[in-house]
Amino acid sequence: MDAATDDRLTIPADYLATLFDLRDRVAVVTGGGSGLGAAIAIGYGQAGVRVVIADINDVGSAATKATIAAQGGSAETLHLDVTDKTDVDAAADHVVATYGRVDILVNSAGSAFRAPAEDFPEEKFDFILNLNLKGTYLCCQAFGRKMLAQRKGSIINLGSIGSFVGYPWASAYLASKGGVLGVTRGLALEWRDRGIRVNAIGPTLMESPLTRMAAQRTSLTADFIRARMLRPRLGLPRELIGAAVFLASDASDLVTGHTLMCDDGYLAA
Ligand SMILES: NC(=O)c1ccc[n+]([C@@H]2O[C@H](COP(=O)([O-])OP(=O)(O)OC[C@H]3O[C@@H](n4cnc5c(N)ncnc54)[C@H](O)[C@@H]3O)[C@@H](O)[C@H]2O)c1
Repeated sequence: MDAATDDRLTIPADYLATLFDLRDRVAVVTGGGSGLGAAIAIGYGQAGVRVVIADINDVGSAATKATIAAQGGSAETLHLDVTDKTDVDAAADHVVATYGRVDILVNSAGSAFRAPAEDFPEEKFDFILNLNLKGTYLCCQAFGRKMLAQRKGSIINLGSIGSFVGYPWASAYLASKGGVLGVTRGLALEWRDRGIRVNAIGPTLMESPLTRMAAQRTSLTADFIRARMLRPRLGLPRELIGAAVFLASDASDLVTGHTLMCDDGYLAA
């Protein structure tokens, strides 16, 4: 059997035109009120996605929504604390009740705290793990259930170069981002045959409010990372949009359990 006789091997003339098409899909972007999540939400808005910006920061969410609307896109804001299971489950119910489905989940809500390992405050360790890891997991679980019912969906978690390599004063963050990749792989294999793909994006150090906030406590972590960068510049939030569109779209249909590094080659060194 060859391409001429086997439908599976033919490539329709409009194949590429539909491959990255996200029009009218429904995406929830946690942490969409700031930084990387805001950029991804705006990128999705430009792609014709109906975007739900889910964040505890209502002012930030409103700003992202205004940008999407000004650019001709569709968005709503949803006040959501990703660490609150009741809140997360209600958000998933709300999105499906409103739009009839949820196609894409981006877990970008997260934070960082800098302190030397020997003095790392226990409550800060718990806070970072609870937000970055458990918050991501709760959203995967609640929105994943909706996707399982549809037998289709794409989940994109925010990993980090810190999912793979260490840097100083970041024990909780490193633990959380290693954990996010574990969850990403585990859910990917549990849900592959039910139509759900689960991947991660692994950014380098980025220009964002989070990076600026963490640097107020110490520049040690950022200086350590900067000294190892192949180019002396931080990533820009918009430079993650291509990866977020790819992983959300049918173009990545064979991609699951994967971390797409957007690290400017950091891990190559
Ligand atoms: N900035 C970087 O250099 C960098 C690099 C790699 C990975 N990341 C990851 O990307 C993600 C986004 O980072 P960012 O730089 O955009 O940070 P940011 O601080 O700019 O944005 C994070 C957003 O998460 C929201 N948030 C915090 N707690 C929340 C909660 N409980 N429920 C819902 N929303 C909550 C905040 O309100 C904020 O809008 C994080 O997971 C971060 O670890 C960032």
